Amino acid sequence: MEIGFLGLGIMGKAMSMNLIKKGFKVTVWNRTLSRCDELVEMGASVGETPAAVVKKCKITIAMVSDPAAALSVVFDKDGVLEEISSGKGYVDMSTVDPETSSKISEAITSKGGSFVEAPVSGSKQPAEAALLVILAAGDKALYEEAIPAFNAMGKKSFYLGPIGNGARMKLVVNMIMGRYAHCSFLATSLNPKMRQYSNLLMSDCHLGAIATPMFKGKGPNMIKSNFSPAFPLKHQQKDMRLALALGDENAVSMPIAAAANEVKKSETPALPISLSSTASHSSFCALITDVTQFEMSSKIRSRT
Ligand SMILES: NC(=O)c1ccc[n+]([C@@H]2O[C@H](COP(=O)([O-])OP(=O)(O)OC[C@H]3O[C@@H](n4cnc5c(N)ncnc54)[C@H](OP(=O)(O)O)[C@@H]3O)[C@@H](O)[C@H]2O)c1
Repeated sequence: MEIGFLGLGIMGKAMSMNLIKKGFKVTVWNRTLSRCDELVEMGASVGETPAAVVKKCKITIAMVSDPAAALSVVFDKDGVLEEISSGKGYVDMSTVDPETSSKISEAITSKGGSFVEAPVSGSKQPAEAALLVILAAGDKALYEEAIPAFNAMGKKSFYLGPIGNGARMKLVVNMIMGRYAHCSFLATSLNPKMRQYSNLLMSDCHLGAIATPMFKGKGPNMIKSNFSPAFPLKHQQKDMRLALALGDENAVSMPIAAAANEVKKSETPALPISLSSTASHSSFCALITDVTQFEMSSKIRSRT
């Protein structure tokens, strides 16, 4: 089956590579076209626009940064909507809010196409290792048709019913992760004098009741101040913001998530200038570590 793939960022690149490795014929498009080169070397074709990809492929997948990008690839000139038609499917795997997903679904189905939202749980490494968890909702027949592609990119896919449920589930998962990340990573920075015990802290966390793959994966890099992005801070903050909107909509009070979101706002004027100008593209761990060190050093300064 020929699959189209729109968006070759950290996640989309790894996911489309796995489709090629598992034998799919893949046609790719990325806003910055040069990012298609590596995929072409692996055997992918390039579509010049999202519309051109949809024209060529029975199923087209998108993996772009946020709601604005997800809407843009569908509704803008040369977008998906220009070529979607009966018999064609569109699968958006980006993390967006339920309203964005519903808008896309209505537009696609009004032209006779079918639509599935399928955000993923798992970051760069699971994407590379085809170990994503896929949270799908929408057209059941398209979901079933896309299962071989989902299996090529992930270890498990769930069908969650009507459009919006996949987006909601993903935002809940990332809200929990964002809160957990904030608390656990504070631990690695709490006191510069404890630095020599950082490895012990890691072992303790891996062996005890709070062990998680996330802490295991990111903790050692934080100790080494290695902040190359797997899940950029700008996306983590976007997910917290969308999860908080979900809380508003359902009148659920989420004070801890709101506090974690505040920390992740990279443009916060209270942050050190060097941090606010670079943080949005870094790993979200960088911000947590730097803010914590900044807060701690401010407190130490104010006490002395
Ligand atoms: N990274 C993770 O760990 C992770 C995990 C789970 C889910 N996600 C979600 O997966 C999605 C992609 O994440 P990522 O980490 O791959 O992001 P990324 O590396 O920042 O890549 C973003 C992609 O979106 C494209 N894009 C941005 N704005 C666009 C626009 N207006 N029109 C068309 N394309 C646009 C970018 O194109 P250019 O190359 O031209 O900039 C790029 O291909 C996000 O929704 C994110 O929340 C990420």
